[in-house]
Amino acid sequence: MPAAAALLAERHRQHRLRHPLLPAAYEDQQRALAEVTAAWESEDASGTVLRDGDEVTGYLLGAPKKSPVWGPNIWVEAAGHAVREAEHIRDLYGAAASTWVDGGRIAHYTLVPDDAALLDAWFRLAFGSQHAHAIRPVPETPIPVPAGLTVRTAVRDDIPILAQLDLTLPQHQGLSPVFSAGMLPTLQEALDEWEEDFDDPEHVTFVAESNGRVIGSSIGSSIEKGSTHSGLSQPDNAGFLGFAAVLPEARGLGAGRALGEAVLNWSAEMGYDSVVTDWRVTNLLSSRAWPALGFRQTFHRLHRLIGH
Ligand SMILES: CC(C)(COP(=O)(O)OP(=O)(O)OC[C@H]1O[C@@H](n2cnc3c(N)ncnc32)[C@H](O)[C@@H]1OP(=O)(O)O)[C@@H](O)C(=O)NCCC(=O)NCCS
Repeated sequence: MPAAAALLAERHRQHRLRHPLLPAAYEDQQRALAEVTAAWESEDASGTVLRDGDEVTGYLLGAPKKSPVWGPNIWVEAAGHAVREAEHIRDLYGAAASTWVDGGRIAHYTLVPDDAALLDAWFRLAFGSQHAHAIRPVPETPIPVPAGLTVRTAVRDDIPILAQLDLTLPQHQGLSPVFSAGMLPTLQEALDEWEEDFDDPEHVTFVAESNGRVIGSSIGSSIEKGSTHSGLSQPDNAGFLGFAAVLPEARGLGAGRALGEAVLNWSAEMGYDSVVTDWRVTNLLSSRAWPALGFRQTFHRLHRLIGH
């Protein structure tokens, strides 16, 4: 485990040369060891280790997630792999995956830093890109709202349109080419959730108006409130753009940018250093909108489905 932690700390040090906003702590081997240990202690974790003589030169650890949306799965989290030579991830996976597939776990997911050699090695294991994690610094000065749009914090009277907008994200992501299996709540469920959570002080909700009508919404929070970004992929003192949606007929006109920038401005006001978001790379809208707002990809979630 300490040898694996040393490899992980070095991988993270290299990663931070490209993304200094990622958390510095995991360059420390003791902190990296806590992450490797957590991966090892995850329920039903298994994996492989590579040795060159007495020296550990790579490791791979995966564990299943319980949610049915991922299928019969194995997840390799950010701390679940590190190798001295990128090519060797293929040997580690080759040895680990036979156990996973024999056990019926044919949907594989892995969170990989944006390291070209490492991504290439995973691609040559038949993985493809599914999801992006990204970061940007907060703006130095507030970004103004463009003419013709109003952006304001939501009020209780907005709940009906907020609930409608909640459905537009899973509706869009259920379509081609995302084909996400995410659950689509009913409008009533979305309304009930808003009634219950509206005053939650840990989130801020913005709405965009055009001609006096709400056409979109976005939600900001601390990065610590979400579960997608943890450990090595959770920057210190960061805000989180956790949700944004614009009504289909109002898309492509700048409302999404204004709503994303409202969360950037809010994050700066809250004293955060950076803002994190994530998107399905097959979502043709968000995968273009968020990089246009200055978000740079840090991790790639790769996916492979075995059997065909
Ligand atoms: C993603 C979404 C919120 C963006 O809002 P939008 O109002 O459509 O986007 P905007 O018009 O503000 O455009 C934002 C940027 O993305 C770019 N963009 C938007 N649509 C694009 C397209 N079809 N092709 C290329 N670029 C596009 C724009 O060029 C713009 O950058 P620019 O200001 O530098 O030109 C909206 O499309 C949406 O609700 N999509 C469905 C739900 C969803 O995917 N939510 C995000 C979940 S992660």
